[in-house]
Amino acid sequence: TLGQDVVDISKLGGHGVFTFDPGFLSTASCESKITFIDGGKGVLLHRGYPIDQLATQSDYLEVCYLLLYGELPDQKQKEHFTSTVQNHTMVHEQLAAFYKGFRRDAHPMAIMAGVVAALSAFYHDSLDITDPHHREVCAFRLIAKIPTIAAMCYKYTKGQPFVYPRNDQSYAGNFLRMMFSTPCSDYQVNPVLERAMDRIFTLHADHEQNASTSTVRLAGSSGANPFACIAAGIAALWGPAHGGANEAVLTMLEEIGDESRIDEFVARAKDKNDPFRLMGFGHRVYKNFDPRAKVMKQTCDEVLGELGLDNDPLLKIAKRLEQIALEDEYFIERSLYPNVDFYSGIILKAIGIPTNMFTVIFALARTVGWIAHWNEMISDPSYRIGRPRQLYTGEDKREWKPVSER
Ligand code: ACO
Repeated sequence: TLGQDVVDISKLGGHGVFTFDPGFLSTASCESKITFIDGGKGVLLHRGYPIDQLATQSDYLEVCYLLLYGELPDQKQKEHFTSTVQNHTMVHEQLAAFYKGFRRDAHPMAIMAGVVAALSAFYHDSLDITDPHHREVCAFRLIAKIPTIAAMCYKYTKGQPFVYPRNDQSYAGNFLRMMFSTPCSDYQVNPVLERAMDRIFTLHADHEQNASTSTVRLAGSSGANPFACIAAGIAALWGPAHGGANEAVLTMLEEIGDESRIDEFVARAKDKNDPFRLMGFGHRVYKNFDPRAKVMKQTCDEVLGELGLDNDPLLKIAKRLEQIALEDEYFIERSLYPNVDFYSGIILKAIGIPTNMFTVIFALARTVGWIAHWNEMISDPSYRIGRPRQLYTGEDKREWKPVSER
């Protein structure tokens, strides 16, 4: 309604039933062939393949191919895809100057959003979104350059020189090298950590119409270029209820600080007068279990074992919280299980990645999902600009008064 008047929706150019669905709990915004989720059963499929199989048997670049093209690559396709991604890992040298405009203590997500949006100012030659070849080149550029850009964010905030990509490394290995190598020492990639990084990328590659992917689609529906759309996705991902959750998990574990304080924090999470929530618990869609969390937990155990960190105090708090969530009635009744971010935060900390880079890594991994959805939308000739409706609850029409009469 507009005020008290019932609106004939057909006169407003509407179709179907006018619904009011805050938070989009039961409204589909599009059709998609990319990812299927059954939250009740804990199922996540990419192009039909279960996520646990992809995360444990495939690798991230294979999953990128699958998300973009709809099928797993054969050997020749895989080699071609990998070498094309490798051809694009460098960024324009002038992009390095762009970083210098930021304060060294800026949050890396702020730098990411700015630098990724700026890519549209560097790669003008692929911005005709009606051309499938341009769209494909943009996808390659984004997937290849995002680890370089992310590692540059870290190096910049550390005050260290940027490390160029090395194309004889795997996607995950190259990222770890660009993060941790310095002119004084060449980082030797540990295969267990490399595999864990690859799994983190794979498990975050896509998750259908979450807040950031929907943001990318909505931005893209106006015809905005893909670099700008991915920057919009990065902004949406930054929030603690979405991609910021794994960073929030570590902040929370540090705040708890000691096993003796766990009960106090659990009590706060249950108190309806306290806005505090246990970070890394619960999920909007998975109300039974998160299939990604299972693989992440296993990977977490592998990494902690490899690094001999089983007795780390923060990790002990994490293990105890996990146990409480599985036993406590409050969490059981509400199906609040540790989600993928709970374990990914712990793994990333163990690898040596600072907390403020966690969401950046999520953005890096999700870039392929965003671009696959953007491309799916643009490829569909029937796509239209996204324009949600609203229920107006403000004042009825009234007359303007001069300031002396207000
Ligand atoms: N700690 C304590 N209680 C919680 C938590 C939590 N983490 N999450 C939900 N609840 C409670 C709510 O208070 C509510 O209780 P009530 O029924 O007594 O009022 C009930 O569980 C349902 O909560 P909703 O907010 O309705 O659940 P929703 O599906 O809207 O929210 C969300 C899901 C945002 C993920 C929420 O569980 C949360 O804030 N979790 C912590 C943040 C987090 O880990 N986010 C990462 C999500 S995964 C990702 O983005 C990849």
